[in-house]
Amino acid sequence: MQDGAARRIDIEALREAFTRRFGEPARVFSAPGRVNLIGEHTDYNDGFVLPMAIGRRTYVAGAARSDRRIVAHSLSTDTGVEIDLDRPGAPQQGHLGDFVEGTARALMARNVAVGGANLLIDTEVPLGAGLSASAALELSVGFALASLAGQGSVDRVTLALAGQAAEHEYVGTRCGIMDQYIAALGEEAHALLIDCRSLEQRAVSMTLSGASVLVCDTRVKHDLASSEYNVRRADCEHAVAILSTLIPGVRALRDVTLEQLTEHAHALPEVVRRRARHVVTENARTLAAAHAFETGDLTRAGVLMNESHASLRDDYEVSAVELDAAVDAAVAVPGVFGARMTGGGFGGCAVVLVRDDAISAVSSAVSAKLRTEFGRDPEIFSSRAHAGAREESV
Ligand code: GLA
Repeated sequence: MQDGAARRIDIEALREAFTRRFGEPARVFSAPGRVNLIGEHTDYNDGFVLPMAIGRRTYVAGAARSDRRIVAHSLSTDTGVEIDLDRPGAPQQGHLGDFVEGTARALMARNVAVGGANLLIDTEVPLGAGLSASAALELSVGFALASLAGQGSVDRVTLALAGQAAEHEYVGTRCGIMDQYIAALGEEAHALLIDCRSLEQRAVSMTLSGASVLVCDTRVKHDLASSEYNVRRADCEHAVAILSTLIPGVRALRDVTLEQLTEHAHALPEVVRRRARHVVTENARTLAAAHAFETGDLTRAGVLMNESHASLRDDYEVSAVELDAAVDAAVAVPGVFGARMTGGGFGGCAVVLVRDDAISAVSSAVSAKLRTEFGRDPEIFSSRAHAGAREESV
């Protein structure tokens, strides 16, 4: 199914719901979820990632208020929040307010004017599936608030950084920049090769002749995800603390070559060495994969995706048995170029690069495997690449 129209939002119905609730007309803004093709756990190491925005979006209907309050309600969680822009609320309350307040304050801290607003939010991006529902929420709210305050042409990287800051300061996750960046700057028919140090990007065409990107949501989410994420970050910082004393100019794992890592391997504890090896090899794979997609070499791109999965499973240890099973089932099907887990790991989604004529065979194989081995019914959909945050026309 194209973009897995599990739950499609009717934009006009959202506009009408806003008017019923707030008694005035609304503008509608949106931002997408994402799937990462390759470049996992590299963003917070100043490295490279290659995500694309998917067709599922979070929508925000909104209108400016004359006071300094933000009144927001989410239809998907049926929760609401009221914020006073002149009185900062407490962070990490564990609800919608963290995203709305965090984003508003991060924009103001970056000199983007934000005023009072009424917001009605709804989403097609499932929470906790590893498709970056949080970034879609931050970017749709951030873009709505900026636009309603007359700042719609605000720099997109600033919007992405504000979303990431909301995540760090209010939501409480120390994520990298990948998810917010692609939600802000995603391009139709293109993945973005993002340099997470310079924050520059190169659009990589995803107009694949006769092939598709398939997303397999295992619908599994292990509790470990956020605690282990922070442990992995700490492992990487540990590696940099040691390697920077041995190799001049090392500020992040991005600066380390595989040769240097091999030469100094004995200086690192065994686990830290494997974590660093994942990051160093994944950066190289990501650059190589961008080139492979650009030259239409899907066989090469697929091999790199398979290697990425093995590295995430064995060296970085962020996969899950369900993800391994999905990937194994996918790569065994003729016509599959490659497959890997995507996103933070410990559940969530796998991404498969597949010839169009093998899509239904892969879907059946992955579903059958997850059903028989784990009693799970995955959701599988193909996605083309979509645009980042935007205003929806009337
Ligand atoms: C999560 C984070 C991203 C990135 C990925 C792993 O999605 O939000 O910043 O670190 O995990 O690649």
